[in-house]
Amino acid sequence: MTADQGDISGLTIGVLGGTGDQGRGLARRFAMAGHPVIIGSRDAGRAGAAAAELGRELGSEALISGAVNAEAADQADVVIAAMPWEGHKDLLASLAAELAGKIVIDCVNPMGFDGKGAYALPVAEGSAAQQAAAVLPESTVVGAFHHVSALVLLDPGVTSLDQDVLVLGDDRQATDVVAALASRLPGVRGVYGGRLRNCGQVEALTANLVSINRRYKAHAGIRVTDI
Ligand SMILES: NC(=O)c1ccc[n+]([C@@H]2O[C@H](COP(=O)([O-])OP(=O)(O)OC[C@H]3O[C@@H](n4cnc5c(N)ncnc54)[C@H](OP(=O)(O)O)[C@@H]3O)[C@@H](O)[C@H]2O)c1
Repeated sequence: MTADQGDISGLTIGVLGGTGDQGRGLARRFAMAGHPVIIGSRDAGRAGAAAAELGRELGSEALISGAVNAEAADQADVVIAAMPWEGHKDLLASLAAELAGKIVIDCVNPMGFDGKGAYALPVAEGSAAQQAAAVLPESTVVGAFHHVSALVLLDPGVTSLDQDVLVLGDDRQATDVVAALASRLPGVRGVYGGRLRNCGQVEALTANLVSINRRYKAHAGIRVTDI
């Protein structure tokens, strides 16, 4: 199935950098929503171990496998980029062929930390998502899931994520697919948030959320009112 055929419920989700907290968290929630999921890694063994652990938690009905990033990119219908900012450009550029023709969901927040807390890093292209689009000219890049805490995604006690996911991109069909995918997660509404050129401030807002979390001992998400 491809992402532009209307029914998104059977789409296979690949996750690059899927062995990390954010990747495993999104993989977990999409598997719980019934999607086949492929956890990607630079190492097949790590991918397999992460997939097996999630499979043990979710049971045999969950369709979770592990593969090196290139295989995950090749075999999935929609691919989430969930690697650290440091490895973002190189890993995506190396997978341009496998990702061609696909929607790539970028949730990467270029962020630094110092004694004063988190802060947004400047990005030459404007945002991580725009950098992804620059190195993946044959893919459709959509920014989403920047503000969803991995701890919340991974917490079995959290039955409703209770937040909106801002979805940004230049292709209306692709942003509709990603908004619909986001809305399949419990308590989540996918909300169109503008073109990719407006993704920088969405990524940067994560530093504010980190500050909020520290101050209020929370896992804050965002809600958009009046829609
Ligand atoms: N954590 C959160 O709550 C959260 C929330 C929203 C967005 N995000 C974004 O999601 C991304 C992942 O966050 P995370 O906390 O899951 O990060 P992470 O655990 O540090 O990294 C995720 C995975 O990426 C792979 N990786 C590490 N360095 C790499 C490199 N240089 N090149 C390619 N792959 C590399 C590793 O997998 P292998 O070693 O198995 O390849 C690692 O398990 C970040 O960009 C972050 O901004 C995170």
